[in-house]
Amino acid sequence: MGKNKIEGALPRHIGLIMDGNGRWAKKRLLPRSAGHAHGMDRMEGLLECAFDMGVSYVTVYALSTENLNRPQAELDGLYDLIRKHFIRAMCKICQKGVRLRVIGDVSLLPDDVQKILRAAEEETKGYEGKGLNVALCYGARAEIVRAANIAVENGEKLTEESLSSALYTGDVPDPDLIIRTGGEMRLSNFLLYQAAYAELYFSEKMFPDFSDADLKAAVAEFAGRTRRFGKTDEQCKEDNVQE
Ligand code: FPP
Repeated sequence: MGKNKIEGALPRHIGLIMDGNGRWAKKRLLPRSAGHAHGMDRMEGLLECAFDMGVSYVTVYALSTENLNRPQAELDGLYDLIRKHFIRAMCKICQKGVRLRVIGDVSLLPDDVQKILRAAEEETKGYEGKGLNVALCYGARAEIVRAANIAVENGEKLTEESLSSALYTGDVPDPDLIIRTGGEMRLSNFLLYQAAYAELYFSEKMFPDFSDADLKAAVAEFAGRTRRFGKTDEQCKEDNVQE
């Protein structure tokens, strides 16, 4: 098997757009915050499942810059989830040797939430080879602009390498697979630069209903896809023979 045909291969890095908490709750006549609480539990389960399968990196989209325009009560509910449950959930994941990183403009979060997140990052900063990126107050366009400014301020010529290494995920391989739940088929400003060659997988299920088996089905579909990275089938076959 060559490098482009990935039968049986696991994605090294999965991006997860956790959409549908609100609709899941509405259907059950529950407040949106209940949807987010169930989403948090599901996120924990899926992360455990992904790292146990051998995936090395996962990036979860927990709050976009645009989500910050939601009613304050909903945002407060999400911040409370971080205060009350996030650390317990993360401890379990990080015991697997996973480094936690928060990506996004964390300064937009309440001070105490920032402190909790920074402490969790600090706690796991020695771990290498496995990582969980939690995107909070995150937007890919802002990330790209920030990275361009960093590269220029460092006196570097703006190249794909200098820009890419100044992204929040600069030392992490690009996502191989991006999964979005909730039935919408778009990236919504998530990892736009890094997703150039990611395989996309969309599920109709609302996030709290997206099971470990659903994750495994997405990974199995990924394993059956052919990645050509812009080359022709013939070139890919030639690459494989040369390996
Ligand atoms: C999108 O669903 C989901 C969010 C904006 C929040 C995602 C959060 C979690 C899964 C759990 C909490 C995790 C952390 C780290 C805080 P939506 O509310 O837009 O659903 P809808 O499209 O059905 O309205």
